[in-house]
Amino acid sequence: MARMIRIFDTTLRDGEQSPGASMNIEEKVLVAKQLARLQVDVIEAGFAFSSPGDFEAISRIGQEVEGPIVCSLARARPEDIKKAWESLQKASKARIHTFLSTSDIHLQYQFRMTRDEARSRAVEMVQLAKSYVDDVEFSPMDATRSDLTYLCEVVESVIAAGASTVNIPDTVGYTTPQEFGHIIRTLREKVLHSEKAVFSVHCHNDLGLAVANSLAAVHAGAGQVECTVNGIGERAGNASLEEIAMGLRTRRDFYDADTRIHTEEISKASRLVSKITGMVVQPNKAIVGANAFAHTSGIHQDGLLKEKSTYEIMRPETVGLTQSRLIMGKLSGRHAFREELIHLGYALSDDEINAAFERFKHVADQKKEIFEEDLEAIVSEAATRVPEHYSLKGLEVRSGLGQQPEAMVELLVDGQTITRTKEGDGPVDAVYRTIADMVQTKSRLLSYVVKAITGGTDAQGEVAVRLEEDGETVMGNGADTDIIVASAHAYLNALNKIRSLLDKRAMGDKKITLC
Ligand code: KIV
Ligand code: ZN
Repeated sequence: MARMIRIFDTTLRDGEQSPGASMNIEEKVLVAKQLARLQVDVIEAGFAFSSPGDFEAISRIGQEVEGPIVCSLARARPEDIKKAWESLQKASKARIHTFLSTSDIHLQYQFRMTRDEARSRAVEMVQLAKSYVDDVEFSPMDATRSDLTYLCEVVESVIAAGASTVNIPDTVGYTTPQEFGHIIRTLREKVLHSEKAVFSVHCHNDLGLAVANSLAAVHAGAGQVECTVNGIGERAGNASLEEIAMGLRTRRDFYDADTRIHTEEISKASRLVSKITGMVVQPNKAIVGANAFAHTSGIHQDGLLKEKSTYEIMRPETVGLTQSRLIMGKLSGRHAFREELIHLGYALSDDEINAAFERFKHVADQKKEIFEEDLEAIVSEAATRVPEHYSLKGLEVRSGLGQQPEAMVELLVDGQTITRTKEGDGPVDAVYRTIADMVQTKSRLLSYVVKAITGGTDAQGEVAVRLEEDGETVMGNGADTDIIVASAHAYLNALNKIRSLLDKRAMGDKKITLC
């Protein structure tokens, strides 16, 4: 029987470390619920000590997300481990993940510790974590550049101290499949009582080898893979969850291993993470790229028409790619709306359903047919709303051939209605200049992307903008059948987020980054 490999998802922790990919608490909860639908085994929900926001996100996920183990990251310091434990109080299945470097480069230059000191600290911290919770994971950071004999000693010591999972990180994406396979095999063979722990791997993609290295480790006996949706993460990212899951499912014959991932949820997870983080998926990305299942060569198409298996190693439906499904219309009521959400796997609170239903009515008024993707956009927008300092009350735009575009915007700013008119280079520019002037923002627009959610000229346009202010970067999203209105919503959504973030920061909620 095939071995079941555990999938440890770190989209909300390492994934969030991607530049500009920060998520607010509601967004993290939404992603965590989708990870639960994907049936990942472990969700690394954050680094509790790093900020009150991370702490609250872990707590909320522990309380609201059922199924996976919820894991909180901690440096090998007592105060971090205590905080990690506090953040997990509401989780029914909890794990503390603590880490300390083992490479001489890190120990000498960064931690200023000897090998012996690092080993003792690792043991003490695993024991401390174990005094709080049974499920403890330890990571010797920069393991792949560590002396292998010393790595074996540390791993043996933390297993003796009670670590039930030992994760081997390729922190800087340096290793190769053959070398990594050798490291995992050596650890399993040389470490006393290696069978008492699950060996895990955590690979970064600096040389484009994160997935290959992870799969080589599975082949060598690793029982857990750490990965992220769309492969987002620090620098070049982490191993991509969808590639690991489909690699093992498609080549189960070779690896004699599989995962519990409900692969039909992969596309939805990819779209959600891309939308929330603003990290666009490259079209030729394996499994989830727009071209991943598109065959253009005449010879391939001919073969496919005769027999799918000639050129198709995976069915698109297996990763949740289906024809856009018409699901509702203008006359659908609240009950049908709620039922459809349940059918699509969304468990929303009454307030969230009410907010989403309002939005649905608005969209259905403008667009006769509502597809599954429209509903996804509506739900994520309703569930990730931030406190609204600024909201759109009215918008009129004049533009056309040979005319200077002009926008008249009516906003509610902290309870006060204001109206202003300004010109711009184009209709969106006119709207953005007017809003920026009204809210007196110092933020810089880093990117603006517009795309149609479904086909047809009556499709909703989805706009994603990225703003930067004072070192903070946020994404804003807006959807509407009118792309100028969608653009205004996206800009205001980003401005509301940046304002909440800066307000929180002023109150002391500043995230510390991992060393
Ligand atoms: O890349 C890394 O080493 C990490 C550890 C915290 C596991 O992310
Ligand atoms: Zn990492």
